[in-house]
Amino acid sequence: MSVGTPGNTRLEIDETLLLKQIELLGKVGIDPSGGRTRLALSEQDKMARDLLQQWMKELALDVKIDPLGNIFGILYGEGDSCANALMIGSHIDTVINAGPLDGVYGVLSGLAVARAFREAGMRPIRPLIVAAFTNEEGVRFQPDMMGSLFFTGGIFLDDALAAKGSDGVLLGDALRRIGYAGGTDPSLVLPAEYLELHVEQGPVLDSIKIDIGVVEHLQGISWKQIEISGTANHAGTTPVSMRHDAGYAAAKIIVFLRELACASENTRTTVGSLRFLPDAINVIPSKAVFTVDMRDPDEGRLVDGEEKLLAFLRELQMEEGVGISVETLARFKPVRFDSELAAAVEDAARIRGFSSMRIVSGAGHDAQMLARVCKAAMIFVPSQDGISHNPAEHTTDEQLLRGARVLLDVASERLGHTGSSL
Ligand code: GLV
Ligand code: MN
Ligand code: MN
Repeated sequence: MSVGTPGNTRLEIDETLLLKQIELLGKVGIDPSGGRTRLALSEQDKMARDLLQQWMKELALDVKIDPLGNIFGILYGEGDSCANALMIGSHIDTVINAGPLDGVYGVLSGLAVARAFREAGMRPIRPLIVAAFTNEEGVRFQPDMMGSLFFTGGIFLDDALAAKGSDGVLLGDALRRIGYAGGTDPSLVLPAEYLELHVEQGPVLDSIKIDIGVVEHLQGISWKQIEISGTANHAGTTPVSMRHDAGYAAAKIIVFLRELACASENTRTTVGSLRFLPDAINVIPSKAVFTVDMRDPDEGRLVDGEEKLLAFLRELQMEEGVGISVETLARFKPVRFDSELAAAVEDAARIRGFSSMRIVSGAGHDAQMLARVCKAAMIFVPSQDGISHNPAEHTTDEQLLRGARVLLDVASERLGHTGSSL
């Protein structure tokens, strides 16, 4: 029996194929302007899922799907169970008009690790599971990271299936429509360890030219939907003093959130979606409905930001004579990843001769859900100019391959191999 060691392994990533698969999956849901939109459980998401399943089957992985549509490709170890598995995962759904790498890179690199075992004819000692989680992005259905949240026991299946999409469709109906409501009990594929390789989606690694980010910590996320009820009235005749303008109140909240972020060390605030009713040039808005995305690496500061927002809303309600209601769409505390796995990532990068640094993730990831139930770690590679959730999202091939090599080294070290052929 021999065990692969970082930098001294007989396992190799098929780098040409990994890059090719990233390109092919990146074309699913693409539009002529170069962005792709694969909202969770849409037809485009189904096409990407079908392609992923086909690739998993080509590697003779045992494909399982759970009742929320999470997809697992299993390469069994010495036994035929998933006990003590190492999972490598991420997601293949996207935001609107997305780049090619967010999520896809991690799932396909997991597949590349499984392929490395297959091509070397080696069986890992422990099982390897490659996972693609449903609705990580949370654009169509909230909360985000829903598939991994369900997988780790953080949301009941019925509540997830009842989530109403931004298009009014229920998640359960969308899931059935695309044929991805599976029967696998998630507890049967729960891993002992989880790795996720991802593009950074922020500017840190690119700006200081570091190859590998060893993610130590992931910031907390608070998503809310705010609805303001005012009074529609004539734009030309209604004096300012007599208005109950939902649009104006929304604008004040947007400015308040920006100032809150500017006054804080690390709080980030975004209003990314906003609708007015009746949505007409000469009518004072009677309603404004918009989202708030507030994040902070520090839970105390995040709670403080949420409280300041609520206090501001109470005052504004009185000042403008409008009604304001707030719904929480998602709320996740900051997460600290496993220190032993982080050290393993750091060692693997060093042995490969790649520069690395500890980093905080600004984005949400499935790894933060897995960290609730097993040891979890994340590996980042640079994002050019820190751009993501944008078709211009880019990481060079060599940077992508460095990340995949580090993933392979860490995974093969953890999995070991028996020397017996597959
Ligand atoms: C996911 O991409 C998020 O951080 O919103
Ligand atoms: Mn992602
Ligand atoms: Mn994303």
